[in-house]
Amino acid sequence: MKPLIIANWKCNPKTKKEAINLFNKVKSASRRNKTVICPPLIYLSLFNYAFLGAQNCHWQNSGAYTGEVSPTMLKSLGVVYVIIGHSERRNYFKETDEMINKKLKAALNAGLMPILCIGEKKGEDANLVVENQLSGDLNGISEKDRDKIIIAYEPVWAISTSDGEICYAEYAKKMLDFIKQRFNGKIIYGGSVDSKIIKNYLEVGYQGALVGGASLKADEFIKIVKSV
Ligand code: PGA
Repeated sequence: MKPLIIANWKCNPKTKKEAINLFNKVKSASRRNKTVICPPLIYLSLFNYAFLGAQNCHWQNSGAYTGEVSPTMLKSLGVVYVIIGHSERRNYFKETDEMINKKLKAALNAGLMPILCIGEKKGEDANLVVENQLSGDLNGISEKDRDKIIIAYEPVWAISTSDGEICYAEYAKKMLDFIKQRFNGKIIYGGSVDSKIIKNYLEVGYQGALVGGASLKADEFIKIVKSV
C-alpha cells in the first residue's frame, strides 16, 4: 500500500491568496496517491479536495465554546481527517491526555479519521511518555474505532529541526516497534521529514509521514509525494 503523506501547514501561510496558491501548486501531485492536506481551519472551506484534514477540533459538537470548531462542522465541510494532540497543542495550549481522549472520541463519533500525535520531549523517557500518552489518549476507545485512528510518532526534539537534531532511523524503528506492541493500526512518522530522509523512515516500517515545514515549499512537497 502507498504510504500516507500528510501535510501539516500549521499556522501558515499568512494570507488566503498564498494559501490558494500553495494548494493549487501541490494538488496535482497530490492526486497521484493518498496525500492529506491539513491547512489552518479558516482556509478549509476554500478547498474542494478528497483528502482534506483539520489540525484540531473541539470535543463538543456545538454550544457555548467561543472560538472552537466542532468535529460535526468539519465533517459538514467535507473534511475527512483531523490531527489531534499535536505536540504544539499539548505544549502551547496545554492540551492534556484527557482532553485529547475526548477529542478523539468526538472526532470518531462524527465520522472523521483522527491522526493522533504522540512523542517525547528532549530528555524525557520516550517509552514512558509514549506509553502514558497511548493509554490516556486511547482510553475507552474500542478496537473497532482504534482501527480508524492513525498514529503519528513525532519525537518533539526532532520537529522543525532540519538543520539541527535528526531522529535516526534506528531510533525511529525502536519506537515503532514499541508502539506496535500497543497499537495495531497505521503508524506514520513526523519530525523534519523532507524528500531526502523520508525513505529512512518508510524503510524501517512507518506507513507514511506527517510533514510540517517541507509541506509549505510546493516543489519540495511534490518531490516528497513523488518519491514514495
Ligand atoms: P516538521 O513538523 O516537519 O516541520 O518538523 C512536523 C509536525 O510538527 O507535524
